[in-house]
Amino acid sequence: MDNPTLKNMRNHRTVRSFSDEALSTSDIREAVEAAQCAATSSWIQAYSILQVTDEAERQTLAELSGGQTQVRAAPGFFVICGDSRRHRLLMEKEGKPFQNNFEVFLTTVIDASLFAQNLVLAFESQGHGTCLIGGLRTRLADVAKLLEFPEGVYPLYGLCVGKPAEDPGTRPRLPFEAVCFQGRYPSDEAMRIQMQQADQASETYYTKRGAPARTWSRGMLRRFAKLNREDLPQAYLNLGAELS
Ligand SMILES: Cc1cc2nc3c(=O)[nH]c(=O)nc-3n(C[C@H](O)[C@H](O)[C@H](O)COP(=O)(O)O)c2cc1C
Repeated sequence: MDNPTLKNMRNHRTVRSFSDEALSTSDIREAVEAAQCAATSSWIQAYSILQVTDEAERQTLAELSGGQTQVRAAPGFFVICGDSRRHRLLMEKEGKPFQNNFEVFLTTVIDASLFAQNLVLAFESQGHGTCLIGGLRTRLADVAKLLEFPEGVYPLYGLCVGKPAEDPGTRPRLPFEAVCFQGRYPSDEAMRIQMQQADQASETYYTKRGAPARTWSRGMLRRFAKLNREDLPQAYLNLGAELS
């Protein structure tokens, strides 16, 4: 049987419709402080989070994210950022060069993402629903201009938070056998079979719920048929990242 932590993790589902109930500052502080307890590369804590408080800015961000109404309507909206600014400031104060490279950028992305997943779980444990917004990167340069991020702060995705006004149900994941291997990775052929089985399981899952039978493969075929967000490297370079 699942313990309470596993149960919360298994109950995760993205929520895109929220009630009007305000998100309290105490819930935010409690969730952020708990999320900060995530592991962090060498203790560097290379992330930060910006709550967007201006209504007009929210409206603009909803448009820049591809017209995602939950960005405007959620009781709370945050931007999760990789952040190596504090480290640069420290080095500068000591009169030493800040050795910036792709590893620094990658570390901020990893640290911020561990923090973000903890934050999602923390908010969910308080009874909130969440929706991460990768759409925030669709027009990243415009987002950065609007919110005036300082050098070394790299917006990665948004986060909508609030009490759910819908119950979308959980979305199935790939089976354990398709993601966890012992010693060596299986052949492409074995992996193809796993993926077929995963699609069958997903069709059965959705059919049982009376929903259109979706499969992971069909979604991925659409997703990887074209390149997205090709201007991102330049947008991150402009914010101070080194990508090599
Ligand atoms: C980094 C990241 C970015 C995402 N961006 C969006 C987004 O822009 N809009 C949206 O509606 N959902 C977004 N999602 C939510 C995913 O679509 C969702 O997690 C996925 O379909 C699995 O569904 P579930 O979270 O309900 O299990 C994002 C999720 C992640 C992890």
